[in-house]
Amino acid sequence: MSKVHIIDHPLIQHKLTHLRKEETGPKEFRELANEISTLMAYEVTRDLPLQEVKIKTPVMETNSKVISGKKLAIVPILRAGLGMVDGVVNLIPAAKVGHIGLYRDPETLEPVEYYCKMPTDIGSRELIVVDPMLATGGTAVAALQFVKDRGAENIKFMCLVAAPEGVEKLQAAHPDVDIYTAALDDRLNDHAYIEPGLGDAGDRLFGTK
Ligand code: URA
Repeated sequence: MSKVHIIDHPLIQHKLTHLRKEETGPKEFRELANEISTLMAYEVTRDLPLQEVKIKTPVMETNSKVISGKKLAIVPILRAGLGMVDGVVNLIPAAKVGHIGLYRDPETLEPVEYYCKMPTDIGSRELIVVDPMLATGGTAVAALQFVKDRGAENIKFMCLVAAPEGVEKLQAAHPDVDIYTAALDDRLNDHAYIEPGLGDAGDRLFGTK
């Protein structure tokens, strides 16, 4: 079974409170989503392997550590996932970025992929799939399956707010994918919105309604 990491650093919790507030407009919402994503990326990458290299300081030669070989890719689920990309890339500038877009077929209610462009070497990269809201889990489960079908093996899922229902569904479908979230909220309401949540993350990021 995968792990759920609730990243409850005070800076993240403080920024998340402002993100949730109804009166926070798109400019501040975007800034906060990116800042929280940067802080979370610090935790998500905590287990990256290190290797020793020889360097010379102005004083002497020494051994020191650098991140070894492991390459990363960030995969936002369109469209709200875009609001987390810059925050992660700020910390990991060499990361490649893949994109995946899904819609729900109105008749079958099955998720259908309408866009997918991945780095060609995703099989040898650690993937961080990002979407601000893990609500029912339907989109995340499908997106993870689509990237696995293209060869991804080493995947983490990172969101800002998760509902227990989404966590349960994702863990059942992808027990190999750890979940990183800034908050685990109470429940979903009848419209599949997270309570207390923050509303529609995509609309708030892009100023649409
Ligand atoms: N998607 C959102 O943007 N917000 C929710 O509360 C649930 C799904």
